[in-house]
Amino acid sequence: MAKIMVTGGGGYIGSILTAQLLEKGHEVIVLDWFVFGQHRLSAYKNNPHLTLLAQDVRTVKPASLKGIDIICDLAALSNDPAGDLDRKLTKQINFEARARLGRIAKAMGVKRYMLASSCSVYGANGDLAATEESEINPLTTYAECNALAEEALFALNDDDFCVTAFRNSTAFGLSPRMRFDLVVNIMTLNALKDQTITIHGDGQQHRPLIHIADISRAFIKALESEKSVVSGQVFNLGVTNVKISDLADTIAKTLPMDIGIEYVPNNSDARDYTVSFDKMRNRLRLDPKMQIKDGINEVFHAALTGETTNSSDTRTVERYREVIENGNNLSIGSVVNF
Ligand SMILES: NC(=O)c1ccc[n+]([C@@H]2O[C@H](COP(=O)([O-])OP(=O)(O)OC[C@H]3O[C@@H](n4cnc5c(N)ncnc54)[C@H](O)[C@@H]3O)[C@@H](O)[C@H]2O)c1
Repeated sequence: MAKIMVTGGGGYIGSILTAQLLEKGHEVIVLDWFVFGQHRLSAYKNNPHLTLLAQDVRTVKPASLKGIDIICDLAALSNDPAGDLDRKLTKQINFEARARLGRIAKAMGVKRYMLASSCSVYGANGDLAATEESEINPLTTYAECNALAEEALFALNDDDFCVTAFRNSTAFGLSPRMRFDLVVNIMTLNALKDQTITIHGDGQQHRPLIHIADISRAFIKALESEKSVVSGQVFNLGVTNVKISDLADTIAKTLPMDIGIEYVPNNSDARDYTVSFDKMRNRLRLDPKMQIKDGINEVFHAALTGETTNSSDTRTVERYREVIENGNNLSIGSVVNF
């Protein structure tokens, strides 16, 4: 079993990945600023294989990486609007800290490094499904930092340090750190709350999507794969590309109540892109298990029973605005006791 550091392990995807790694018997060190709270992993508080480090990824000390075999790097300001709040901070966390972590990891003898990047690096690409070979076209600070981080990390890839980057589609599904800034989750919640789904624009734009459990499975699949399969490789991760108007129809048909769909004229988000997942299926041999309907159902039931609620820490940009307004004043530098 490996000793694995998950940066951002208290986050939406990271808390699911951490759970899956623990279930496989790995030793997991979660390093996180815990912007969304430390209680996200409390279900595992008695697991002797889990350590939580409350720390800013920008200031990780080389000694913290002693004995680590693998890093899954998920710490980041995790969407475009959060990345626009303070571009300097975004660059520090989403690019410079990742590049630095890669360098010190390599120097400390870490064997593998996996980066959570994003399909947003492709920008708007019209009708063609972007493959890993397609030209990238990052349109925001968030997307640009992902592209720069990939480049800096792949420059470190060699026989002793295996670097892999996952370009994630927009994620969906239920997590202890819930995100209601993601399209499937928020449309489902609004459908339950208002019996109406509101679409801004004509709904013709496409989005690639994937469930968080399948993103986590991709990281595990990669760490279990031969180095020759994943070394220096980028993989797009997704289950399907869906038109926003079709997603609204699917939600309306899946929920056990009458749901209306309303269109509000708006051109503010005209991003339209589709992505190919052939390499994920053929080279990584990952077949996503979770369909959009599975995510809709789990979010619906959790919201209905009150297991999840839409508070400020489920809306990423709002929470980062609070953090930045408070001078980034989070308690850091300690081992967390639940
Ligand atoms: N969820 C998606 O739809 C999606 C899509 C594409 C890419 N990604 C990428 O996947 C990764 C995880 O995303 P997520 O959805 O779990 O987001 P998230 O916001 O829930 O998790 C990110 C975690 O990083 C931590 N963090 C932020 N800044 C930090 C710092 N300076 N030091 C230490 N920890 C810090 C936060 O506390 C949080 O727990 C991110 O890199 C994100 O860009 C996510």
